[in-house]
Amino acid sequence: MPDSTKKLIIGNWKMNGLKAPSLQLTQALIQSFIQQPELLTASEVVICPPFPLLISLADITKKTPVTLGAQNCHHLEKGAYTGEISASMVKDAGGSYVILGHSERRHYQQESNEDVAAKAVAAYEAGLTAIICIGETLEEYNAGKTLDILQAQLAGSIPAGANADNTVIAYEPVWAIGTGKIPTADEITVAHDFIYKTAINTFEKAPKILYGGSVKPDNAEEILKIQHVGGLLVGGASLKAEDFLAIIASAKQPVSC
Ligand code: PGA
Repeated sequence: MPDSTKKLIIGNWKMNGLKAPSLQLTQALIQSFIQQPELLTASEVVICPPFPLLISLADITKKTPVTLGAQNCHHLEKGAYTGEISASMVKDAGGSYVILGHSERRHYQQESNEDVAAKAVAAYEAGLTAIICIGETLEEYNAGKTLDILQAQLAGSIPAGANADNTVIAYEPVWAIGTGKIPTADEITVAHDFIYKTAINTFEKAPKILYGGSVKPDNAEEILKIQHVGGLLVGGASLKAEDFLAIIASAKQPVSC
């Protein structure tokens, strides 16, 4: 469950990381949090490694401020689904969060809003917090359709039963992911305002709304200052301890959502 008084900083490692360097990276983060506890005054940290690393990372992050998550799960609990992993397996392996509907999965695995909503229900049943990703493509952005897309993805990907404790929404413009391009502060403000106002209609309490897409140490602070930005979903920059720590340190003020 996300801490409503802190910014939620999530590292999405994607398909990166063999065991030894991943353990080293995680140990480096833990050491920094021990030596500089002030890093976590306004931030809460989650790492989402590839599945095979969850158990080893769970061993070393136990009793530390680092929480773990997965990058996907199946919508069913078990059965004859070769190659799939269920939400309860993620939980059993030490995960507390699961990223769902990332644009790479919507694109490469053709995941639909309905698929994402079904996976979110499975996540809730397993006791995981779902990080539901939404965001427009470049084409949609250029056509001025950003808010329409966000509206449709919010309506289709977030199931009944979602609340601020079991769901985090991540706004990730597809064209900003891994490209070094980010929307202007005004564009992020408009998108987050829209998501906040839409979510408040169905959630009793506003959920945390993260921004993701080319977050780096040199833009994190500015993005985190924007109203209704409750944290960051960080891809590439979460793979380097120095960069990820600098992003974590960018959170300065507590938040209300
Ligand atoms: P990026 O990825 O930070 O490398 O742009 C973000 C994401 O895909 O979650």
